[in-house]
Amino acid sequence: MQNKYLGMTPPMGWNSWNTFTWNINDALIRETADAMVSSGLKDAGYEYVVIDDCWSLKQRDENGNLVPDPEKFPHGMKAVADYVHSKGLKFGMYSCDGTHTCAGYPGSFEHEFQDAATFASWGVDYLKYDNCYKPSHMDGETLYRRMSLALRNCGRDIMFSACNWGHEDVHNWIQSAGAQLFRSTGDIQDSWESIKTLALSQLDKTQFSGPFCHNDIDMLVVGMHGGSNNEFIGKIGGCTDEEYRTHFSLWAIMNSPLMIGCDIRSMSDATKETLMNPDIIAINQDIECRGPYHIGQWNNPEAVFALVKPMSDGTLAIGMFNLGDKRNEMSLQFWDMGISSAAGIGLEMVNCWTHENEGVFTERYAGQIEPHGCLMFRAKPVKVR
Ligand code: GLA
Repeated sequence: MQNKYLGMTPPMGWNSWNTFTWNINDALIRETADAMVSSGLKDAGYEYVVIDDCWSLKQRDENGNLVPDPEKFPHGMKAVADYVHSKGLKFGMYSCDGTHTCAGYPGSFEHEFQDAATFASWGVDYLKYDNCYKPSHMDGETLYRRMSLALRNCGRDIMFSACNWGHEDVHNWIQSAGAQLFRSTGDIQDSWESIKTLALSQLDKTQFSGPFCHNDIDMLVVGMHGGSNNEFIGKIGGCTDEEYRTHFSLWAIMNSPLMIGCDIRSMSDATKETLMNPDIIAINQDIECRGPYHIGQWNNPEAVFALVKPMSDGTLAIGMFNLGDKRNEMSLQFWDMGISSAAGIGLEMVNCWTHENEGVFTERYAGQIEPHGCLMFRAKPVKVR
């Protein structure tokens, strides 16, 4: 490893799966890299352009090497990687710990070292590693360790994105296996129900991630609005812009990687504003990567809660979420964060979505939150007397 800082904070980028699934090709990846730069996403911190499943031929070549589908990628993968790199971005690809990928293409089982060398020769910087068609006599930990070892010995810094959907208590062993991020959930869908279910499923896992190993709650559906070509992910409807803002806020404060899943060549202004909100991104990218703690609203804790993430500059990032279907109040009592007004300490609260400084509060902050909405703050402890 040359880069000691690889994966220090959650990776940010784009992945082809949510919108395009099997329908990927050279032009799409180049146009996406262009859009990453021209839209401002790159300047906002997004770095990786990742091709997911369905990029190869169904058979390896006579030497057992993976072969990019020549119809989808007529210039090969190195040319795609070179183009992505020429934009100042990093390039990611996908394989699987089983004999086949989830969509039925060759997986890397018993080809780990050969495939890692292939990826390195193409200039790959990130590998998402899935868990389908895993031989039942093998445990996942062995297979993820094996690919991690292969990547560490391939001569190139390749970020290792493990994707076993939270199986086999992955949070207990994945950091020592050497992955910089690990998928802890099943696949996201472009619906409010899915966002809510995935976020709630990880609230008790925040202590298992930290710098260099991040809990990946799955790729973002922000801005998709039903635009997937895959029925499972969601072809109709999608979510409202407010729901996408809540989704982005949850993923950010829970320290999930921020991998965009929409078509960034045609984002609406609202989508851009959400994905490029610098105050929310700063919360996600804090170098200490401390997990947030959870404070439920006393009279409605299932639907309404706050997540509080201590930041490295001594401020607190505070998200207040209303996952319920009615407008609800969240009253955040400062005592629950260990802040006593008797000690003369208050919080100066800056709203990360309106970007307004709402002033100094003591004892509590009470806000009304729209259904499926949230309030996000950066709060600074201040002496009030
Ligand atoms: C699994 C993963 C998804 C995606 C698909 C590709 O379902 O969880 O994120 O990579 O495979 O087939």
